[in-house]
Amino acid sequence: MGATQSPKTIHPVTRTDANRIIIFDTTMRDGEQSPGASMNLEEKIKIALLLEEMGVDVIEGGFPIASNGDFEAVREIAKVVKNSSVCGLARAARADIERAWEALQHAERPRIHTFLSTSPLHMKYKLQMTPEQVHQAVIDSVSHARNLCPDVEWSPEDGTRTEHDFLCRTVESAIKAGASTINIPDTVGYTVPEEFSALIRMLKNHVPNIDKAVISVHCHNDLGLAVANSLAAVGAGARQIECTVNGLGERAGNAAIEEVVMALRTRHDVMPYTTGIKTEYITRASRLVSAITGFVVQPNKAIVGANAFAHESGIHQDGMLKHAGTYEIMTPESVGLGKSTLVMGKHSGRHAFKMKLKELGFELGDNALNDAFRRFKEVADRKKDVYDEDIVALVDDAIQQGDERIKFVSLQVIAGSKGPQTAEIELQLDGVSKTAKVTGNGPVDATFNAIHVVVPHTARLLLYQVHAVTEGTDAQAEVTVRLEENGKTVVGQGADPDTLVASARAYIHALNKLLTKRAKTAPAALRA
Ligand code: KIV
Ligand code: ZN
Repeated sequence: MGATQSPKTIHPVTRTDANRIIIFDTTMRDGEQSPGASMNLEEKIKIALLLEEMGVDVIEGGFPIASNGDFEAVREIAKVVKNSSVCGLARAARADIERAWEALQHAERPRIHTFLSTSPLHMKYKLQMTPEQVHQAVIDSVSHARNLCPDVEWSPEDGTRTEHDFLCRTVESAIKAGASTINIPDTVGYTVPEEFSALIRMLKNHVPNIDKAVISVHCHNDLGLAVANSLAAVGAGARQIECTVNGLGERAGNAAIEEVVMALRTRHDVMPYTTGIKTEYITRASRLVSAITGFVVQPNKAIVGANAFAHESGIHQDGMLKHAGTYEIMTPESVGLGKSTLVMGKHSGRHAFKMKLKELGFELGDNALNDAFRRFKEVADRKKDVYDEDIVALVDDAIQQGDERIKFVSLQVIAGSKGPQTAEIELQLDGVSKTAKVTGNGPVDATFNAIHVVVPHTARLLLYQVHAVTEGTDAQAEVTVRLEENGKTVVGQGADPDTLVASARAYIHALNKLLTKRAKTAPAALRA
């Protein structure tokens, strides 16, 4: 109530196209709430820029009051992203809302997303507030947000378990107070498609001013229904879907952006809606988020799993050879998955390599290009066939290990059944060469122990994971490690045809991130 209208754009999408679905990505907010999925500032900026290029309408960058890291991430994303709206989350408290607005100051299209629980269970036990108090807090918080920011979204948390009368009353008041998006969260992933579409229809029929807002949905996947529920809601009139890359998010995650978008595109015949997403970016976004978080995508995951376009059985392969439509409802190219082609060998030159990188979506500066080319030559010398996936893995690795304090130089390992397994490592620490030769309980343990001798630390290894980039025994290994120190976790990745070298690179990558984190919190203690 009493909100002042600002001249700035209120909505990222003009509402002239009634069937256009606004895609709201919350990978960096709800997605980051998955235990162990933390992302640093540089990584969040990388993801935000890719989402913008991909055509995401709204990017939720974080929860600014939650931590300085979240604040900084939203602020920096707000500075660099120009075409998508940038959103910051806030509880129904003045301090939260003001902190979100502070972070969004420089955004071309800022949005404050404020929320408050409305279900009887949450109001009584979590908030310990009466419905009247909650109702007043909704009006106060949305009005305050709207006085600061031209674009305000309001969510009744646990919306699907809220009494209908109370839901209608709070939604109506939130719209009157200035919210132009009303997001209905299925916070605990409890609803089912028919029930959820009926809820959206009920809101449309009973909230008198509902046409003044866009209805959004935010579905969790506890019963594996997040995408189905989101699509059912669209059928009933919702026009914004909140989702995450690879379905990352609290507990079982959120609706996966790639599934929502490809379902709408592939079944346009029964769901005549459009999005602004350039679907060819889907695979890149999935790989980037997986690399940054260390959350491996399950092979049979829809759209982005390694097997999503693989045809194993003879009958299927035969059908595919005769007509791709026999077993393929969408093409691999439509999600940016090039055919796994043999690209280049050891005789390929720098120019061809640069062209190939461009085709794969990488534009590298001179130093990174030189480094990636050197690594490509090493791989091509050792590996018979070099595939696109190999190049993506080594370029990701080269980009990640750019200007870091600890650099890998060499590794020699004695492994096998006779033991003791021994690793001899050479690293550069701030440009100075350091070596160590150490034994361990197996070659990986020996390698990590040797790194520990060169770079003493107290971090705990939480995860060690190896993934083959392509087929064959000469495939590159992509290793992910997750380290934890003083409650902070970091993820490191490394790729190499030698699994132990990839392991050392991944461990060093994670340690470099820890050094950066330590430098930010306690500069004096850092100097190793
Ligand atoms: O799941 C949820 O209810 C949320 C809200 C903050 C929208 O993430
Ligand atoms: Zn959520």
